[in-house]
Amino acid sequence: GRVAVVCGGNSNERDVSLNSGAAVLKALQNRGVDAVHFDPKEQDITELSSYDRVFNVLHGRGGEDGLLQGVLQWLDIPQTGSGVLASALGMDKVRTKQLWQGCGLSTAPFSLLTAQTDWQQVVNTLGLPLIVKPVHEGSSIGMTKVNHLDELPLAYETAAACGDVVMAERWITGREFTIVIIDDEAYPVIRLEPADITNFYDFEAKYKRNDTSYYIPCGLSESEEQHLQALSLAAFRAVDAKGWGRIDAMQDHNGNFWLLEINTVPGMTSHSLVPMAAKARGMDFDSLCWHILAQTVA
Ligand code: DAL
Ligand code: MG
Repeated sequence: GRVAVVCGGNSNERDVSLNSGAAVLKALQNRGVDAVHFDPKEQDITELSSYDRVFNVLHGRGGEDGLLQGVLQWLDIPQTGSGVLASALGMDKVRTKQLWQGCGLSTAPFSLLTAQTDWQQVVNTLGLPLIVKPVHEGSSIGMTKVNHLDELPLAYETAAACGDVVMAERWITGREFTIVIIDDEAYPVIRLEPADITNFYDFEAKYKRNDTSYYIPCGLSESEEQHLQALSLAAFRAVDAKGWGRIDAMQDHNGNFWLLEINTVPGMTSHSLVPMAAKARGMDFDSLCWHILAQTVA
């Protein structure tokens, strides 16, 4: 049947999503799938009812937060990835972390911030440095590392400019990992090392520069890697995620792992992390897209 590759949309990650969409569209067409590009910013969303399936690579609001998932469920069109619940939860970093805490899955300590917040109190609770994030954003948009108390108000303003809700999270000093999950299986773990190790894997490092180092194999011992994969699978299942996704996590200098967040519609550009993990498992990009499409649920 005909497949709509849904991408673009209105979120702050629109351009990233258009890149993901172009890559997925080409891969599916290479595999002989009758696939077309569909951008809800340019096309009426109800036109999706003329397709047999949707491959969703619309990152951020509208595509990754349950809205599109609900529309497609209503229209009875099978779609890749998570349903309404996991999508809505995954797009909310705070509620994701509260749920993980409730399940006994370790996630970095955090606080919600408002314009009335006592900054000193936040620093007392989380320590310094810390990181300020919009709660409903992706691709590191609006995030700032805060090294000193007096930087906190500006970091708050920067995050608040991207969204309504803002959080601060403890800065975990150590190593950063990402864990790709496809079809309820954790793929080889990737370790990321931004060129500036005093900073984080920010938007520029993700999409503008080419100076991040990726390690796969990730350098963990076999048992540590298995532990991190099991933790990530538990985190994936806890939010009821389906089909595919990516969990970001840190390991501190004592060897403890801390979950950061889940991405239910991860990047699929040529230099994204999901294709990298699939490649390490012997799966090329075309096969990967085919495999994700095959997980589609009605
Ligand atoms: N939010 C971006 C697309 C990612 O998770 O890869
Ligand atoms: Mg994210």
